[in-house]
Amino acid sequence: MKAETKKVFIKTYGCQMNVYDSERMSDVLAPMGFEETDGPENADLVILNTCHIREKAAEKVYSEIGRIRQHKEARAADGKRTLVAVAGCVAQAEGEEIVRRAPAVDLVFGPQTYHRLPQIVARAVKGHEPVVETEFPAEDKFDHLAAAPRERTIARGVTAFVTIQEGCDKFCTFCVVPYTRGAELSRPVSRIEADVRRLAEAGVREVTLLGQNVNAYHGEGPDGRDWSLGRLLQRLSEIDGIERLRYTTSHPRDMDDELIAAHADNPKVMPYLHLPVQSGSDRVLKAMNRKHTAGTYLEIVERIRAGRPDIALSSDFIVGFPGETEADFEATLALVRAVGYAQAYSFKYSPRPGTPAAEMDSQVPEAASAERLAALQALLADQQRAFNEACIGREMDILLEKPGRRPGQLVGRSPYLQAVHVAGGDAAIGEMARVRVKSIGANSLSADIVGGQAESPACSALTA
Ligand code: 5AD
Ligand code: SF4
Repeated sequence: MKAETKKVFIKTYGCQMNVYDSERMSDVLAPMGFEETDGPENADLVILNTCHIREKAAEKVYSEIGRIRQHKEARAADGKRTLVAVAGCVAQAEGEEIVRRAPAVDLVFGPQTYHRLPQIVARAVKGHEPVVETEFPAEDKFDHLAAAPRERTIARGVTAFVTIQEGCDKFCTFCVVPYTRGAELSRPVSRIEADVRRLAEAGVREVTLLGQNVNAYHGEGPDGRDWSLGRLLQRLSEIDGIERLRYTTSHPRDMDDELIAAHADNPKVMPYLHLPVQSGSDRVLKAMNRKHTAGTYLEIVERIRAGRPDIALSSDFIVGFPGETEADFEATLALVRAVGYAQAYSFKYSPRPGTPAAEMDSQVPEAASAERLAALQALLADQQRAFNEACIGREMDILLEKPGRRPGQLVGRSPYLQAVHVAGGDAAIGEMARVRVKSIGANSLSADIVGGQAESPACSALTA
């Protein structure tokens, strides 16, 4: 590629890990002269960083390629070449199939290859055959990234993501992640610590640790032993400037005592936990290979709440898993009632090629799944509203993140991850502000800044 400036447009689908990876791709491409642009119209390179978790997510990519092809043809008529790349989990799962189905695609590369992007792009620029790279040398990626720390973290103002582990060894029978992201691999503590220190120096106050199975973290500590996530959180909380720590996504099986204690004892570990349960039926959980029961999940919730009664819980649910009966679904509703969620995501089961569940008999009819999803979502929406309503009149600290839509307005996040709108006053972005919540909207809270140090809040209206 020539040294002159070229434009790259990266479109990101799916999880926060993909958001992080897109930033990293942009970092790797910058020395090649690529500058990011916000649309495909004038891009020399278009990268779709894709998600394969549900069928809908994958199909969206093919529709987008269709639209991009039109830009590619229009630019070709002006004598300009456009490279179209598919990255991420669809690339990993479908490989060559993508260029067969969508000939407008010039490059296909999986999540374990991003550090080699300059070579991959250079090959595509030189040649006229599509380039497909979906090998799985996971160690290479981490070794390489160790030499180039700038690529591993995103700093967007006062909050940042840091990837601490990648991949998953759990093999839930519905899930593509163990195939697209590979085996679980944890980064060493020293590297993560260096990233977080650098972010803190750049003004970041809140860090979210990322991983597909983040609480399975077992990276090498400075003492040469494997450290747990609880221990890592403790270490990171000692870094000057870091006020808040979060992590996502966790598996119930890996919620160990050290991590539960971190929520109870460390005020920088935020009282919010995304802990997917998927179903409330033990029969379904077994068929999903979840390695926990409804009972063991509820026990974990109880233990966490014993140490941190106000914790806001979040979850993922799948309805219509093969063989799910009305009674199984009722068990899910019962679990939701027993826990009381502050927020949650719920999906209809989507068969993914190559996963065991896709081969199971007794797939649930679409109409039954749709009905169950609507019932579950109604219950979860009620719980979310109740949780937010319980915050009215309470005081809490929010981290001010950005200007609001109206003049003088600022938007921050509560400890429970709610967006909070306040009139700015003397407060500034990057500061913590003590506020009193006055009302709730569809997706956010509205609050006034108050002085002083009030007692810690408790919005946990839902605790049984
Ligand atoms: N069908 C529906 N939902 C799925 N998820 C993962 N795989 C599937 C699938 N095949 C959901 C799970 C997971 C979330 C990220 O996506 O609830 O926790
Ligand atoms: Fe997928 Fe999460 Fe199960 Fe791993 S633990 S297989 S990422 S659903």
